Amino acid sequence: MLIKSDPSWVIKENQATPEGAYLNRRTLMKGLAGSIALGSVAQINMAGSAQEGRAPLASTHNDAYTLDRELTPEDVNLKYNNFYEFGSHKRISDNAEQNLKPRPWEVVIDGMVNKPITLDVDELISKVGGLEERLYRHRCVEAWSMTVPWIGFPVKKLVDLVDPLGSAKYLRMETFNDASMADGIASQPWYPWPYVEGITMAEAGNDLAFLAVGAYGKQIANSMGAPIRLHMPWKYGFKSIKSIVRFSFVEERPVSYWEEISDGREYGFWANVNPEVPHARWSQANETVLHTQERVPTLLYNGYGEQVADLYTGMENEKIFY
Ligand code: MTE
Repeated sequence: MLIKSDPSWVIKENQATPEGAYLNRRTLMKGLAGSIALGSVAQINMAGSAQEGRAPLASTHNDAYTLDRELTPEDVNLKYNNFYEFGSHKRISDNAEQNLKPRPWEVVIDGMVNKPITLDVDELISKVGGLEERLYRHRCVEAWSMTVPWIGFPVKKLVDLVDPLGSAKYLRMETFNDASMADGIASQPWYPWPYVEGITMAEAGNDLAFLAVGAYGKQIANSMGAPIRLHMPWKYGFKSIKSIVRFSFVEERPVSYWEEISDGREYGFWANVNPEVPHARWSQANETVLHTQERVPTLLYNGYGEQVADLYTGMENEKIFY
């Protein structure tokens, strides 16, 4: 059964409907302005149970990261997603489950490194040696939040594998771009596929920057970005790129997917959470905890300021909060 809910926190349809003013030239030329929106009406498909068949993953629980709220139930997390490769709405779970093939999965790590490597995702997992479980808050730019028991490893371990050159400044990441696995790629040609994200080397080296290969004690579900996705819990969720096939160490700052779509006007490169800096079309002061529908104040850096604020000292003139 599909339950359609319109709770008060949902961004109103007219706010979520994109305005031509911020579309980039490419999108405008395609004449498909009506299709671009990160905000949309919430629909939670409560049908069925969590997807079966994912292998359990052994991990060591890391006590350093605790939550101030209860965990989001697995079913809610699995069935309320942003994964535009499968469609620009929240109910992509069944489509992703049926069509994304997360194994075998080749991962390329290249660019400005001494030891470039191409390997299978399971080989990567065994090379980094030992998985951790971490409980993280996840704050979407659309003003909803979840909590997730991720299993994975710090990005830093991947960095160390390939020994980057001193001149590498950013880590650029790319999602698969295979329309045979994800029908949204072909049916929405106006989006700048593949999904690309980037973080600085300093951000990549922060202990919180995490590559998730599992959640809820098992391999990560397709809808959540199998077989490997990023989670940067102090940034809006769109930085946390899913189903990564390539990590490249580069000198130039990558243009990220939403940055390109909005021409940098609505979704920026930095995207650090700040309740006092509103999005162009809505407030970021509060968020709705998805499972409980509780409305809570949003925290600076999503509550992780102690660990990450130092990364941005001296950057007062940069737009680091959108
Ligand atoms: N990665 C890819 N490849 N495609 C996407 O559409 N959406 C982003 C991010 N990573 C997205 C993506 C956004 S907007 C959010 S909020 C999170 O994934 C959502 O992650 P979740 O579905 O696991 O909650």
